[in-house]
Amino acid sequence: MSKKITLVKYSAISAVVLFAASALAEPVADKLVIDDELEMMTRVAPPEGHPLSEIISGWHYRTPETRALEADSFQNPGMLGVELGEEFWNKVEGTAGKSCASCHDDAATSMKGVGAGYPKWHEKTGRPINLELQINQCRVENMGAEAYKFDKGGQKPLTAYIKHQSLGMPVKLNLEEGDMETWLEKGKDMYYKRTGQLNLSCASCHEKNNGKYIRADHLSQGNVNGFPTYRLKQGTLISTHNRFRGCIRDTRAEFPKAFSDPLMALELYVTWRGTGLSVETPGVRQ
Ligand code: HEC
Ligand code: HEC
Repeated sequence: MSKKITLVKYSAISAVVLFAASALAEPVADKLVIDDELEMMTRVAPPEGHPLSEIISGWHYRTPETRALEADSFQNPGMLGVELGEEFWNKVEGTAGKSCASCHDDAATSMKGVGAGYPKWHEKTGRPINLELQINQCRVENMGAEAYKFDKGGQKPLTAYIKHQSLGMPVKLNLEEGDMETWLEKGKDMYYKRTGQLNLSCASCHEKNNGKYIRADHLSQGNVNGFPTYRLKQGTLISTHNRFRGCIRDTRAEFPKAFSDPLMALELYVTWRGTGLSVETPGVRQ
């Protein structure tokens, strides 16, 4: 009984903390240009059936200092992860005595545009596959090496390295293949479903309240076009599923495992919501 009262009290307070102090500061309207040469699409018109009138990259919501870090490859701390990814790309591992480069040569050519189209339909397993799982598949089936565990080994660096080869290219998914539409719907259901003790959905924060503040955090639309993204707070690259799990945990709900069906559906749907934004990997966030 007393426990219940505490909970009610808690969520009443959080509701105030979360949404009362909406400063409604407009995202600063400037352009993300990488190294003074590559102009990024950070605000685009949504595709048909999209709930928002404009899709905006999370970059716009960060402080001027953080935005400047992302715009300069020499200063962007996420680029260290990308460089590490290149080392993994060339590293021979597994019983076949091969590296990624043995088959795919120069990633700048073979992987250009690839990261902008994930998740993709995967016929063999009958579900969508993301870049992390595609890398694992190549390791197991083509190299005789072990699959990386979630966020371990070369998983984040290689994912960042491959995504980075699509820097500036628009996010675009192929929803025609297999059961992509069904999975997209599943992801949408998850996005709008209120869960946890705080009874919040992804949409509560990233759709209804984007542009407002949660304490010091300026709420973005929660797009994934900059992932894996460098978080200054954590001092490392953060994967998409890690970010999802963190956001779900913040609503005090049970959070599903990385690469589980619910999170794959969510990744598909959230990626679709960012259709047309430039791939920014590695993004920089507080
Ligand atoms: C023995 C050759 C071989 C090796 C080694 C290999 N791959 Fe592949 N890879 C393939 C083949 C063949 C395909 C296409 C068919 C498939 O999806 O399995 C592919 C597909 C891919 C794709 C998907 C491309 C697309 O257009 O969607 C990615 C990404 C990829 N590999 C990354 C890697 C990475 C990263 C490594 C190293 C960890 C690696 N591969 C090692 C042969 C290889
Ligand atoms: C209680 C509010 C809240 C809820 C609910 C929430 N998030 Fe977040 N989320 C945040 C905050 C705060 C940040 C960091 C600031 C920002 O980018 O919005 C964030 C960041 C993100 C980012 C990184 C955006 C970027 O540009 O780097 C993604 C992606 C994301 N959330 C996805 C989700 C998904 C998917 C859900 C539902 C499972 C969800 N969030 C639920 C508060 C929330």
